[in-house]
Amino acid sequence: MSITIHDDVALTALRRAGAAAARTLAMVGTRIRPGVTTAQIEAWVREDTIRQGGWPSQLGYQGFPAAACTSRNHVVCHGIPSANEMLEPGDIVNVDVTTCLDGYHGDTSATFFVGEPGPDALHVVEVARRCRDAGIATVRDGARLGDIGHAIERLARSEGCQVVRELGGHGIGRSMHMPPHVAHHGRAGTGTRLRAGMALTIEPMINAGGAAVRFLSDGWTVVTADGRLSAQFEHTLLVTRAGAEILTAPPA
Ligand code: MF3
Ligand code: CO
Ligand code: CO
Repeated sequence: MSITIHDDVALTALRRAGAAAARTLAMVGTRIRPGVTTAQIEAWVREDTIRQGGWPSQLGYQGFPAAACTSRNHVVCHGIPSANEMLEPGDIVNVDVTTCLDGYHGDTSATFFVGEPGPDALHVVEVARRCRDAGIATVRDGARLGDIGHAIERLARSEGCQVVRELGGHGIGRSMHMPPHVAHHGRAGTGTRLRAGMALTIEPMINAGGAAVRFLSDGWTVVTADGRLSAQFEHTLLVTRAGAEILTAPPA
C-alpha cells in the first residue's frame, strides 16, 4: 500500500492536531499522583481534547471503549481505563492521547512515574524514552524503515531491555493508523525508503524482562508474559529533507 506524502494544507492540520495532543498529554502529566484512577485520567483526556475543538480518535476506534489508553506497570499498551484501577506510589503508567482536529490526527504517549520510582521503573522508563529518540534520530528523507528499528533494538538490548515485536508505529494523517507499519526492530539499510512529507509515529514498547507479550481476553489489553514492567513513549513526526519535525513536541 502506498504511503501518503502530505501537502502544505495537510501539514498545517497535522501540526495543529499534534500540538493539541501534546498539550493534553502535558496537562495529564501535571495531574498524575497516587490515588488517581485511570478512569479519571481518561476523563481529563476526553474533556481537554474536546475543549480544544478536537475529538479523541481512540474513542470507539474498532470498538475501543475509551478516549485514552492507560497502561500501568506490566501492561504494555491498550490498557482500558477503569474506575477500579487506582494509581499507587511506585507505579508507572503510560497515557496514550490521539487527537483528531480538522480531519487530521496527532498521536503521542508518555510513561509517568507515580510517586517515587524504584530502580527497575526508573531504568525501563528512561530506556524507552531514549529508544524512541534514537529511532527519531535516524529519520530523514532517504533513510529506511529498518534504520529506525535497528537503532531502537540496539539501544534497548545494550541496556538489558527487550523490544516488543507484535505492535509498532504507523503512518498517520486523515486516519490514525495508515501505512507503513513502523517496526521497532529490524536491520539497518532494509525496508521502505522514507520520503519528505511522510508522517509517522515511533512508539517503542520496551520491556524490563523478556520480549514476549500476552493479549488479554478483553480484546485490548496487552501485557508482558513474564509480568515485568513495560514502558512506552510515542511521537508523531514528519519526515523532512534534513531529519524529522516532531509534531507532538511538548508545549514550551
Ligand atoms: N494511540 C494508539 C497508537 O499509538 C492506538 C490505540 S488503538 C485503541 O497507535 F483503540 F486502543 F485506542
Ligand atoms: Co500510535
Ligand atoms: Co498512540
